[in-house]
Amino acid sequence: MDLAVSPRVAPQNAATVLRVERVSKNYGARRVLNEVSFTLAAGERVALVGPSGCGKTTLLNCLGGVDRADSGSIRLNDAALEKLSSDELATLRRERIGTIFQFFHLLPTLTAFENVELPMQLLNVPTRERRTRGLELLERVKLTQRAEAFPGQLSGGEMQRVAIARALAHRPELILADEPTGNLDSVNGENILDLLAELSTELKIAMLMVTHSAEAARICHRSLHMRDGVIVKETLGA
Ligand SMILES: Nc1ncnc2c1ncn2[C@@H]1O[C@H](COP(=O)(O)OP(=O)(O)O)[C@@H](O)[C@H]1O
Ligand SMILES: [Mg+2]
Repeated sequence: MDLAVSPRVAPQNAATVLRVERVSKNYGARRVLNEVSFTLAAGERVALVGPSGCGKTTLLNCLGGVDRADSGSIRLNDAALEKLSSDELATLRRERIGTIFQFFHLLPTLTAFENVELPMQLLNVPTRERRTRGLELLERVKLTQRAEAFPGQLSGGEMQRVAIARALAHRPELILADEPTGNLDSVNGENILDLLAELSTELKIAMLMVTHSAEAARICHRSLHMRDGVIVKETLGA
């Protein structure tokens, strides 16, 4: 990466990647998301912060096409998610979105390399290209030596680095991360945040990250503060 460019400098004149307009969602009689609106630009990292149960994961699930909003509009570049069928939504998720979770969600029976390769396999990327890209990504997250290790043989920090490589393997337009450091000690957590900042700047990927405000301050350009399904304020940094 170009070290002259600080990962904290907000991208200038970057194209809008994600446009969320007045998204609402109910579970039964309960309104979990209430008219949520914001945009994300290429290379921009935005933190989503707020107390447990305020709707952060539900919002990520709607943006990632795992769940559907009841009203409002979610546009990922040219695609309006509310207009897609379930199959089209699943395809969009596989092709265009990368997801990172608190508990890594690696497949235990696949090696680190095979976990990174999997999203490319699902998209029928040719074997040779899968190998090149997979090894490049493992090198980028400093895990070349652990390519043949299984998740059970890796530390938490290493597992999350595999998960980051996997999330980037299919060159997504948007990364959704749900408490990516929530299961790591502070040193490993900071390393993961630095890595996410570097990679999203370098690859110009938009990233929405559920996190605690203190850690988000370091690497995010903006923070959205959520309470009871509403974005109550937006701040620079955290
Ligand atoms: N599948 C579901 N069915 C019913 N209620 C749900 C479901 N998923 C989440 N909820 C409720 O929606 C609210 C928001 O949950 P969530 O988005 O997981 O919050 P957060 O990630 O901010 O902790 C919570 O009250 C939760 O209990
Ligand atoms: Mg959550």
